[in-house]
Amino acid sequence: MAYILGEREFWGRPFKVSPSVLVPRPDSETVIEAVLGLLPDRTIAWRILDLGVGSGCLLLTLLREYPQASGTGLDASQDALAVAQHNAEALGVSDRARMVAGDWRKPGWSDALGPPFDLVVANPPYIDSGAIEALMPEVARFEPRLALDGGADGLDAYRRLADAGPGLLAAGGHFVVEVGAGQARRVQCLFTSAGLMLLPLWKDLGGIERVVAAKQ
Ligand SMILES: C[S@@+](CC[C@H](N)C(=O)[O-])C[C@H]1O[C@@H](n2cnc3c(N)ncnc32)[C@H](O)[C@@H]1O
Repeated sequence: MAYILGEREFWGRPFKVSPSVLVPRPDSETVIEAVLGLLPDRTIAWRILDLGVGSGCLLLTLLREYPQASGTGLDASQDALAVAQHNAEALGVSDRARMVAGDWRKPGWSDALGPPFDLVVANPPYIDSGAIEALMPEVARFEPRLALDGGADGLDAYRRLADAGPGLLAAGGHFVVEVGAGQARRVQCLFTSAGLMLLPLWKDLGGIERVVAAKQ
């Protein structure tokens, strides 16, 4: 339905969507809640990175909530980046948002991102490859596979991002990621193995452990 209408609301604001981006989900608003809880000072010029920016719903919402912040959104899909750029302009934050093409499966992918960030957020693809066909048809048939497929156990992207995390974060920086149902404890293990300090888990409105947070 969102692809037909061309728009979906997220955190009370409209986001353009196209078949090249995941439709923003209410569960992902838990990432915003977690960040606002962890970084309560709205006046600081945080440097924010969103890995797998898609429509831009996470990064651009945060730029609206933190009026002094600036942000970079990375995605492997050029079409998704164009949607995110459109949304940045529509939401009046394009002067503080930079969209960068990159693929975290390729060596040197983070080289163009610049100095370390105060906050890294991500809602990476986390569905087990084998489970995608069994999803609701509106997801399996219409949403981009690149946005869904997390590899054999759903955790491929988290392994890459955990490895890169310490190099992307400034001292004391926060890493906040959405996870699929039942993945939180395994993603926490990846983060601790990478040397990050775990923070409490955040649950979504359905009581599912939805957001893993850690600190440099
Ligand atoms: C689950 S979607 C999340 C989009 C948006 N952040 C949200 O919360 O709605 C994951 C995003 O990661 C991007 N992505 C998937 N694999 C990637 C990779 N290897 N490198 C960079 N981006 C990737 C996809 O194109 C997609 O936009």
